[in-house]
Amino acid sequence: MTNHNIGIIGYGGFGKFLHNAWKSLPSVEIKAIADKDENRNPGAPVTFYNSWRDLINDPAIDIVSVVTPPRTHAEIACAALDAGKHVLVEKPLAVTFRDAEKIIAARDRSGKTAAIDFMQRFNPIVEALHHLGQKNVFGKLRRVDVENYAQDSSLSDDHWFWNPDIGGGILVEHAVHFIDIVHFLTDVQPTRIDGFSASTDGRRENQVVANVVYEDGLIATHYHSFTRPGFFEDTSIRLSYDLAQIDLHGWIPLTGEIRVLVNSETEKELSKLPGFREIRTQKINEIEDESRPEGWGSDDSIENETSGTIRSGTTDYQIDKMITAKLDIGKSKAEVYQQSVRSVMTDLIKAIENSEHRLRTPLESGLLSLDVAIQATEAGRKKE
Ligand SMILES: NC(=O)c1ccc[n+]([C@@H]2O[C@H](COP(=O)([O-])OP(=O)(O)OC[C@H]3O[C@@H](n4cnc5c(N)ncnc54)[C@H](O)[C@@H]3O)[C@@H](O)[C@H]2O)c1
Repeated sequence: MTNHNIGIIGYGGFGKFLHNAWKSLPSVEIKAIADKDENRNPGAPVTFYNSWRDLINDPAIDIVSVVTPPRTHAEIACAALDAGKHVLVEKPLAVTFRDAEKIIAARDRSGKTAAIDFMQRFNPIVEALHHLGQKNVFGKLRRVDVENYAQDSSLSDDHWFWNPDIGGGILVEHAVHFIDIVHFLTDVQPTRIDGFSASTDGRRENQVVANVVYEDGLIATHYHSFTRPGFFEDTSIRLSYDLAQIDLHGWIPLTGEIRVLVNSETEKELSKLPGFREIRTQKINEIEDESRPEGWGSDDSIENETSGTIRSGTTDYQIDKMITAKLDIGKSKAEVYQQSVRSVMTDLIKAIENSEHRLRTPLESGLLSLDVAIQATEAGRKKE
């Protein structure tokens, strides 16, 4: 790896977090910071610019990280690409579809490499589920249910987060992470999108829902609430596949439970799940079907479960066991978060150095999740 000099534009909460995470990466130097607020200057040895335009014109910088509020992403990212820099844009890619498309066009005309910071794609659990999903270990994904209670105590009334023109609203600013997890776990395309929003104070849209129907019978629901104190934060992600039910915990998922139907081949793959700890294994012909109470009548409709073929989601699968297990990355939220953003930067650098390398977080993933989030937001506002 050759040495890469990074300039970070926007040095608020997340810009600082990225600086701390990236400074220990090999072959990387954080050379410059730009923020319109001079109080954000971290001091030497980093060069500080009051204007982001000066940073993108600094010949020492080859990668620009855009960590300003969402509405500003498009102008800064396009200018940085046109100035010949590689770019990592924070999520959401933009707050309008048109602006997001402009960033993609700027990448294409500049020939530079650009990615979006969908760091959840590098979370070890999400990563493992992606790989096992590609091997069809769980069958098809049919339902995703995200329930996310976030805190609002650090978000003052005048914070840009509450201004839809700057942040895009909760689905655009925040839910795109989770919408993107769905897109990472399956290739199916959205076909119908709906949304709702509500306010607990009559002023701010602080509870939102997006319902997304995908090809192949997948329905995803994303509920996000920014109404509770920090100690009450809670995020659960339930993934229902034809052959597995998986519950993940934490907005950066750290632990989970899985109940999965396997055969001898697919069982081997489960050990790739982080901290996989088997709790119970049952042979399929020894599991009682409790869906019908005793005395219900004819059992003819329940097909040859003892022979190893089961039908789920109208697909026949060969399975012989049900395994119940726990998952645990075994690291703190801060460690996993930092590692994930390091991986995003490392992946971008691999793509800069090798044109054959396929980016894990391409701008197109940012465009797709933004499109879903905008449509759900607009649908929700029409109902108000
Ligand atoms: N990937 C993630 O997990 C993650 C997590 C948190 C935030 N984010 C994203 O990072 C971005 C920033 O969020 P934040 O929480 O750090 O916000 P913040 O308000 O804490 O920081 C934004 C900074 O940008 C500066 N700024 C604003 N406009 C500017 C301009 N035109 N030129 C130069 N500086 C400017 C502000 O002075 C401020 O210091 C947002 O897009 C947010 O969604 C991503």
